[in-house]
Amino acid sequence: MRVFSGIQATGEKHIGNYIGAMRNYVVTQDEGDAFFCIVDLHSITVDYDPQDLHDRTLDLAALLFAVGLDPERCTLFLQSHVPAHAEAAWLLSAVTGFGQLGRMTQFKEKGEGKEFVSAGLFTYPVLMAGDILLYQTDIVPVGDDQRQHIELARDVAERFNSRYGETFKIPRGVFPEVGARIMDLQEPTKKMSTTGGTAQGTVLVLDAPDVIRKKFKTAVTDSGRDVRYAPGEKPGVSNLIEILSVASGTPIPAIESSYDGRGYGDLKGDVGDAVVELFGPMQERYAELRADEGELRRLLHVGADKARETSAPTLEQIYERMGFVRP
Ligand code: AMP
Ligand code: TRP
Repeated sequence: MRVFSGIQATGEKHIGNYIGAMRNYVVTQDEGDAFFCIVDLHSITVDYDPQDLHDRTLDLAALLFAVGLDPERCTLFLQSHVPAHAEAAWLLSAVTGFGQLGRMTQFKEKGEGKEFVSAGLFTYPVLMAGDILLYQTDIVPVGDDQRQHIELARDVAERFNSRYGETFKIPRGVFPEVGARIMDLQEPTKKMSTTGGTAQGTVLVLDAPDVIRKKFKTAVTDSGRDVRYAPGEKPGVSNLIEILSVASGTPIPAIESSYDGRGYGDLKGDVGDAVVELFGPMQERYAELRADEGELRRLLHVGADKARETSAPTLEQIYERMGFVRP
């Protein structure tokens, strides 16, 4: 089974990225032949700083290895190291509807109120469809906010297959049962995000322990006193329960009953402690890995070789089926 997922190189990674996506990369690397791609080409679709992109790309590679991606068991690479991705995006734009791209909520959200909206922000999902389809992917582990993009990738694959002949596997998104959408701790009706959320309500994977504890202590909770999981009615408390469930490995009902007679204050303290414990060892490994840039680059080089080799036959098929004269 082929596994593929992508993650942006911009922004500091937060606990939503970890719970919604990164921890499932680690799980799926043992379930199939897994490819994980730092999608640096996607990062230029919004306003960004080149030096920042450069540094964050290496930071993220170190972080992904630190959370448990194992170069022996999966392939981690940079999107820009494999030109097939940019080529596939152009070729697949022929079978992507302008109307469907305009309905993407991420495009609307990221473009809203901006003085300059790049064409790349609009065509972003075509590049993503190419990422996935080039690898004949079966499953794509992602968070809830990527549902619409995955649907588009499936539509693109189906349209291509019916117009040019069977070429692509139709991929399926897999979303975590708990934590597919972690909310901002200060505004629990909005998803946690370094671009759209609040700084105090966004817990970064690399935040220091006292910062993590403080962010949870000051989390906005709901009226009432009982620790009960009810996302519609109690978004703040339910979000904390989901985070605690993942960080401590305890099912939600067991968490609810363990707080009988105790209040939100205890819950906030416990989530903070559990997350500090979860992130501590990762932060140490991160510091070691990030310090050895030569080794990081070597691993990314190996990953890119494997990705190039794996995607090449599909890229060639796309060109041939579409009628291009090949060299
Ligand atoms: P990005 O950093 O936008 O490339 O996102 C990387 C991965 O994290 C994607 O699979 C997203 O679906 C996931 N993700 C981002 N924000 C959240 C969130 N607040 N809760 C759960 N998953 C998320
Ligand atoms: N759009 C995804 C995000 O913002 C990142 C991404 C790019 C991706 N290409 C992908 C995710 C391919 C899964 C598969 O999170």
